[in-house]
Amino acid sequence: MPKPLPVALIGSKFMGRTHSNAYAQVGKFFDLPVDPVMHTIAARDGEDLKKFAPRWGWQHHTTRWQDVCENDDIQLVDVGTPNHVHKEQAIAALEAGKHVACEKPLAGTLDDAREMLAAAKKHKKCKTFVWYNYRRCPAVAFAHQLVKEGRIGKVYHVRARYLQDWGGPDTPLLWRFQGKVAGSGSHGDLGAHIIDMVRFVTGEKITRIEGAIEETFIKQREIIEDAGGEISGRGAKKAGKKKKGRSTVDDCVLFLARLSGGAACSFEATRLATGNKNVNGFEINGDKGSVRFNFERMTELEWYDATLPEKLQGWSTINVSNGDAGHPYAQAWWPTAHAIGYEHGFINQAADMFRVLGGKKPEVPMPDFADAYETQKVLHAVIECARNHAPVKLSDIQ
Ligand SMILES: NC(=O)c1ccc[n+]([C@@H]2O[C@H](COP(=O)([O-])OP(=O)(O)OC[C@H]3O[C@@H](n4cnc5c(N)ncnc54)[C@H](O)[C@@H]3O)[C@@H](O)[C@H]2O)c1
Repeated sequence: MPKPLPVALIGSKFMGRTHSNAYAQVGKFFDLPVDPVMHTIAARDGEDLKKFAPRWGWQHHTTRWQDVCENDDIQLVDVGTPNHVHKEQAIAALEAGKHVACEKPLAGTLDDAREMLAAAKKHKKCKTFVWYNYRRCPAVAFAHQLVKEGRIGKVYHVRARYLQDWGGPDTPLLWRFQGKVAGSGSHGDLGAHIIDMVRFVTGEKITRIEGAIEETFIKQREIIEDAGGEISGRGAKKAGKKKKGRSTVDDCVLFLARLSGGAACSFEATRLATGNKNVNGFEINGDKGSVRFNFERMTELEWYDATLPEKLQGWSTINVSNGDAGHPYAQAWWPTAHAIGYEHGFINQAADMFRVLGGKKPEVPMPDFADAYETQKVLHAVIECARNHAPVKLSDIQ
């Protein structure tokens, strides 16, 4: 029998639900070397936790997150809170000898992220993971494998974009619009994912930011009654009072960058791309072929093979769900083309975390604090570039 591995999660709203669901499902679909136990859920809204804990299968709940660090039974602490508290909670868990899974971006600021990385280095026995969950969409993991096998050859261009359209003038001053809490706006919220995906799929480093635009179109937003900090998302539109406060984050960030192999890249992140609900994806063009992904059609990877005779060349759409054919993660799920959804990326990530904690390899590389720190450096370099109107070399950022 695999050994029990008690888990605690801090945060019980959007990511609280995705992570809780992942812990509840993962052992049912994957054969794991350890047995995840949903020990404690911590968050700020005690009344809500009374319902949340039994609903999702947590044995205990608390409004004092420090409890999970002080409890000797808990082995993995998962940080699913707003970005400004990642540092304090992750470091406290590491100091207590726990493995840590942290939501992305690693932190709101590069300084916080650097301290987290130092703590992870100091507590080497503790494993760290970061929830860059889109790596674990089968189509994205498959793109990574195709590029690694050399199937698209030398990478020339990358176009990456993460476009949503919920952050208009009616959206109140959520924590996501407060610089001290979030660190940045669409940049850290959405841009972080596409930076991570491009690094992951190409296997290359982002070496230079050539130019960048950071823009806040909506400068004032309605202040909302949010005593517990529990109003986080799109449903908050009508919850507000009339008083306005300043939005201190970007609404959009666009930038151009270079990869270590010389490729030219463009990145776009915005929550004001009217009509685009969750267009999260990339196109990568190499000398032997190209791959294209859009999360709104998450089980599909578009593929162009330029090594075929010219009369046969054209974009094809691969439904990345055939476990027998070797598509990543597909063996754990349903028969071919019996589609999976958003939550499966999180369950796949939980499976890989428990594989690593049980001494096994993840299906595809897992971002730890050191890896997520590289993405954080890119986030930081882009803002420097935008504010100083000058290119930034990543080697100049420590
Ligand atoms: N991986 C992804 O795709 C993805 C998607 C959305 C959000 N995120 C990240 O997840 C994190 C949380 O985002 P969310 O959308 O779940 O936020 P949310 O506002 O929906 O939930 C935040 C939760 O944190 C709790 N909380 C807030 N401050 C706390 C504190 N000081 N101590 C203890 N608990 C506290 C709240 O009680 C709430 O339960 C952020 O870092 C965000 O960037 C990642």
